[in-house]
Amino acid sequence: MLVLRSVSELKAWRAGVHRVALVPTMGSLHEGHLALLREGRGRVPIGQGSLALSIFVNPTQFNDPRDLASYPRDEAGDLAKAASVGVDLVFCPSDASELYPANASTWIEVEGLDRHLCGATRPGHFRGVCTIVGKLLGLVRPDYAIFGQKDYQQLAIVRRMHRDLLLDGEILGCPTIREPDGLAMSSRNARLSPAARTEALAIPGFLGQVRQRFAMGERSSNALLADAEAQLGPGRIDYVSLVDAEDLQPVASVERPALVAVAVVFGGVRLIDNTVLG
Ligand code: PAF
Repeated sequence: MLVLRSVSELKAWRAGVHRVALVPTMGSLHEGHLALLREGRGRVPIGQGSLALSIFVNPTQFNDPRDLASYPRDEAGDLAKAASVGVDLVFCPSDASELYPANASTWIEVEGLDRHLCGATRPGHFRGVCTIVGKLLGLVRPDYAIFGQKDYQQLAIVRRMHRDLLLDGEILGCPTIREPDGLAMSSRNARLSPAARTEALAIPGFLGQVRQRFAMGERSSNALLADAEAQLGPGRIDYVSLVDAEDLQPVASVERPALVAVAVVFGGVRLIDNTVLG
């Protein structure tokens, strides 16, 4: 497994390979990331292409400097996990200046899709995500770039950017991987205290209840989301929303596939999760 730390090395590597699957991450890899990597390996089997992983804690997508400072980092563990699933190349920039040259002033912004959910409560977050993902797609030019559906809004925005910028290759989304008790896997889970970890189970509990109400025929947004505050109670709710699954605009009732998405802070750790109805 090759580990590259500079953009110039990455460009030289890219010139010598033909098919590539890329999984962009911020590291602290867990089973969810490994599932994305396995999907990538399936798309470019050994001998038929290269599986690339990028690990970069992208400063421009953090709107809270404390969140950036406390974001978990475990490079040695990440490299061991990457090797275990057959990654060929890890791009792990030595410094943010590799990707953001001095006075970098060019940004990618997808309008509209970031109006609600995380876009509303984390100003500038998706501009940072799109800018770094745009740079990585430009550098690696992957045949497949693979993202998790836990960050549903991120996946929708990246798909739109990819389409609007007429980029090559395909953007693939993979289902959320969960702990046996239902909590969605996230690098941030490592920062939960045991008490907050238990409280956080309110999230899959709440989403399960919404799915049950939907299965019983309920279609009204207010009724589907009733009790959200009581259910998610021990946490501080950032948002609980029901939006159209395509354009991510709020809906009053579910007539087409819709997304229930939540962001809740437990013990200082902000967790997101979602479920699609219909
Ligand atoms: O989902 C993430 O880990 C990040 O937002 C991404 C896509 C790697 C961009 O920094």
